[in-house]
Amino acid sequence: MNRGKAPAPLETLAWRDGKLRIIDQTRLPRELAIMEIADYRHVIAAIRNLEVRGAPAIGIAAAYGAVLAAEEAVGSPSPEVRSRLRKALSELRLARPTAVDLMWAIDRVGEVVDRTDVPDEGLAEAILEVARRIHCEDLDKSLRMGELGASLLPDEATVLTHCNAGGLATGGYGTALAVVFAAWEAGKKIRVVADETRPLLQGARLTAWELQRAGIPVTLVCDAAAPWLIGSGEIDAVLVGSDRIAANGDVANKIGTLGIALAADASGIPFYVVAPTSTLDPDTLSGEEIPIEERDAEEVTRIFGIRTAPEGIDVRNPAFDVTPARYVTAIITERGIHRPPYQESLR
Ligand code: MRU
Repeated sequence: MNRGKAPAPLETLAWRDGKLRIIDQTRLPRELAIMEIADYRHVIAAIRNLEVRGAPAIGIAAAYGAVLAAEEAVGSPSPEVRSRLRKALSELRLARPTAVDLMWAIDRVGEVVDRTDVPDEGLAEAILEVARRIHCEDLDKSLRMGELGASLLPDEATVLTHCNAGGLATGGYGTALAVVFAAWEAGKKIRVVADETRPLLQGARLTAWELQRAGIPVTLVCDAAAPWLIGSGEIDAVLVGSDRIAANGDVANKIGTLGIALAADASGIPFYVVAPTSTLDPDTLSGEEIPIEERDAEEVTRIFGIRTAPEGIDVRNPAFDVTPARYVTAIITERGIHRPPYQESLR
């Protein structure tokens, strides 16, 4: 079999010389530009502006942001150090509302801040250790999810993806795309159909770029084409990531995911969700409780600065939707392949 070789993972995030370096995803695919961030407030802005995006990557960025916040807080009078740091952590936590990996990462950092055996001067170093651990673990998780997910795909398959769930969205090879990379490496004949993902085109700008760079056959389609291609029998499986999975298996992911899940259900093809356990939210019982981010109307009324809708038009711009668990064939985490009923298999 003609084995493909996945490229080294992208350096989506890195900690270097006391600064957080990220690939500025708003500039891809035109240029691969690196942003250097030395203030936690700028980490929050980068998360809000989608310069760094994708659930696991947001969590990692926030953890490194907490290191910057700790360094700043240590400069304040000693009784204030921890309270200032906790305030910064609450601000980081609010950077975006849907991806629960962000809250998960901040909670892990919060455990360090609560430790009485870590002196104020040692906080930044101890938080850096946690951030590095979260980052490294994410690479391992992507390899494991890739391997598990690849075992579900036939030797020859066309898979449909939505948004970007690749290396750019994580600290490793991605979630849904980790499965594609692993299947490709295992010698499976994989072809990807990536939809554009309006309004911000993560599929066209990021997924298409990542797969092309890896030499994996990829075909770009507009969002409206996806259900039709599924119905016409061209797609063997759907692979998507997630921003938050409720205890009952309802899945929040980029707006547009639900339509694809419905089409997959109607055509009887598998709809797989690939996400690390940091995306599971046992405290959220069902999808109805997942907070859905509403973003700026201009993302809908303009395409890259050019107005495409009349001035003053009413707009809704939910960034995510929720796919009910009954449309999800399996959820692949680094811990295994989980099948319905999810209440039990995810626990
Ligand atoms: O708004 P974004 O680009 O952060 O949305 C990202 C997604 O919806 C991804 O599919 C999700 O985070 C899973 S990525 C591993």
